[in-house]
Amino acid sequence: MVGVEAGGEGIVPGHHAARFQGGRLGVLQGTRTYVLADDDGQILLTHSVSAGLDYAAVGPEHARLRDRGRVQYVAADDAAALRAFRTLAELEGILPALESAHVIAHVIEAAPRMGREEIVLVNLSGRGDKDVDQATRFCELLPALAARGDDADAAGALCAERDGPAASSGAKRGADHRP
Ligand SMILES: Cc1ncc(COP(=O)(O)O)c(C=O)c1O
Repeated sequence: MVGVEAGGEGIVPGHHAARFQGGRLGVLQGTRTYVLADDDGQILLTHSVSAGLDYAAVGPEHARLRDRGRVQYVAADDAAALRAFRTLAELEGILPALESAHVIAHVIEAAPRMGREEIVLVNLSGRGDKDVDQATRFCELLPALAARGDDADAAGALCAERDGPAASSGAKRGADHRP
């Protein structure tokens, strides 16, 4: 099994929410698990285009599955998740939640290396109806990202360029944080 975390704008402290890629054991809100924290254990800010993944800790069930080697965890960045959101909508008429779109991004990347007989089972954890505004806003920026030739570069930074400081990821972070 493969789990896909939120690579955000790249695995740089404060710019992603991939607890297994950039995290450490710690405690947040009473739960001991992998968290994004500094050397003193202070919790770091996080970023993801998807509000549901924009959190500094991961469920302890995932931590156990990872430590036992049952699940391999990888990350998909904002731009890949947004492209996957659009691809699934265009090809299948399914709007995945932006959270789930990270998994689709991984499948799009990994499937070409698989055998034709292999079967992929994807868990779409939620619907993307709730994310249409957010996806539209960021998807408009994808051609600009591609033109820069820098996929993992911040869609948020481009939003800030376009919409001004009020729409920057700093403002978004404060509004989006929820477990
Ligand atoms: C659609 C969707 N999928 C996945 C998640 C993340 O779930 P978990 O924290 O259990 O990994 C969320 C969290 O809000 C969500 O809304």
